[in-house]
Amino acid sequence: MKPKKRTTLLIPFILFLVVVFLFTNCRQEEEKTYEPTWESIESHPLPQWYDDAKFGIFIHWGVYSVPAYRTEWYAHRMHDTSSPVYDHHKETYGDTTEFEYHEFLPDFTAENWDPNQWAKLFKEAGARYVVLTAEHHDGFPLWDSQFTQYDAVNKGPERDLVGDLANAVRKQQMKFSGSYHALLNYYKWPDWPKDISGRIPGHEYGELDPDYLEYMRDKLYEMLELYKPALLWLDGDWVGTAEQYKSKQLVADYYNMANEWGKEVAVNDRLGKLRGKRGDFYTPERSKMDTLTKHKWETCTSIDPHSWGYSQATREEEYKTSNEIIDMLVDIVSKNGNLLLNVGPKADGTIPQLMKDRLRDVGEWLNTNGEAIYATTYWETFGEDDIRFTRKGDNTLYAIALTWPEEPMTIETFGDLSESEIVSVSLLGSDESIDWSVSSGGMTIQPPSEKPCEHAFAFKVSLE
Ligand code: GLC
Repeated sequence: MKPKKRTTLLIPFILFLVVVFLFTNCRQEEEKTYEPTWESIESHPLPQWYDDAKFGIFIHWGVYSVPAYRTEWYAHRMHDTSSPVYDHHKETYGDTTEFEYHEFLPDFTAENWDPNQWAKLFKEAGARYVVLTAEHHDGFPLWDSQFTQYDAVNKGPERDLVGDLANAVRKQQMKFSGSYHALLNYYKWPDWPKDISGRIPGHEYGELDPDYLEYMRDKLYEMLELYKPALLWLDGDWVGTAEQYKSKQLVADYYNMANEWGKEVAVNDRLGKLRGKRGDFYTPERSKMDTLTKHKWETCTSIDPHSWGYSQATREEEYKTSNEIIDMLVDIVSKNGNLLLNVGPKADGTIPQLMKDRLRDVGEWLNTNGEAIYATTYWETFGEDDIRFTRKGDNTLYAIALTWPEEPMTIETFGDLSESEIVSVSLLGSDESIDWSVSSGGMTIQPPSEKPCEHAFAFKVSLE
C-alpha cells in the first residue's frame, strides 16, 4: 500500500512544479524590461498581429486640410517664395503677414465628422489597423494637450479627434495608432514661449533647439499615455539624430509602457537618421522594396500622388486606381511588407468620394482574396513576371496573377514541385475546377472560363 500512496502524491506534486515553472517563465516574458540600448530594443519581437494584418489606413488630417492646396506642408510652403503654394496663398488669402497659417483654424470645423462612419469604411476596406496624424509637422495636436492652447480641443474642431477615432476604430476590432511627425516642426504657434525649433518659417533648417526637443517629447509622451497606440509611428526623423531625439530611451519606454498596458506593439524606423536600420519595421515612402526583404517593412503611400493631406489641386485622373492599389498590395505582401494606404479627408471631416470608392474596391477584392493576403508569409521567392506568391503554413501556396490569364498560364518557379505532392489547384472565388499539370518547365494552369473578381486572381495550390 505504502509505495502506491507515494506515487499518487508524487504525480500532483510534479504537476504543481510544472505549473509553477511555466507560470514564472511566462511572467518573466511578460515583465521583460527594455533598456535604452539597441541590443535590448532589438530583442523585441515583431507582434504577430502586425505581420498578419498586411493592410492599414493612414489619415492625414489637420489645419492644412482647410487650404487643401497641393501639400500638407502648407504652413511651410506658404512662406517659400519659390513654391506655387506661396503664390496661391497670396492670391487667395493675401500676404503671409496679413494672413498667417493659424487663421485657417476657424475653418477646421470637423462639422460633418462621424468617426464611426470612418471606422466602418476602413473596416469595409479590409484594413486591420488605422494610423491618424496625431500631430503633423505643423505642430498642431489633434488631442487636448496640456502643453499648448493650440490643439484640436481648444481651437478649430473643439473635439478630441485622436480619442474619438481611437474609440471608433477599436470598436471595429482594428488596431489604432496616432502618428507623430513632430521630430520636424516648421510652424510656431502664437502661444509658443520663444522661437524654438530649427525649422520655423523664415528660419533656415538649423540645429534642433533643446527646449523644442523637450517640448516635443512632452507632447509625445502625453499622447502615448492617453491613447496607448498600437504602433509608435514617427516622422520627421531626417532632421536630427537618434541621440538628439533620445530615441533609445523613447522606444524602451514605449515597450515598457506597452507591457503595462498588456499590448503588443511595434515601432517604425524613423528614429533619427536610421531608416532601414533600426525599428520593428522599415518604412519605404511612396515606394516599395524591389525584392523579398526578411526584416518586416511597410510601404506608406497616398491615393493622391502629390499630397498626403486633401488637395483640391489634384485632378481626378491623377489619383491611383483601384487596380494599381490592389496590385501594389499583392506585390508588397509577397515581399514581406504591409501597405499603409493614406486618405486625406476634408476640413469638415468627410472623406472625398473617390477615396471612399477606392477603399471599397480594395475591400471587395479582399473579401474574395483575403485568404491569400492576411496571415500569410512570404515564400522562397516573391514571384515571377506578373505573378506574386504568398504562403500559408507548409501546405498552401498562392500564386496571384496580376492580370487575367487569357491563355494557359505557366508558373516556372513551380516546376520544382512534384506532381505527387500537389493535392489540388483552385482559384479563390471560383467554383470551376481547374486543369493543371507540372513538368520541369513549370506548372501550367488552364484558367477557368469566368473571372471571379476584378484586378488580381489568386490561384491556391494545396500541397500534401
Ligand atoms: C513625408 C511627408 C510628410 C508625411 C510623411 C508620411 O515625410 O513630407 O508630410 O507625413 O511623408 O510618411
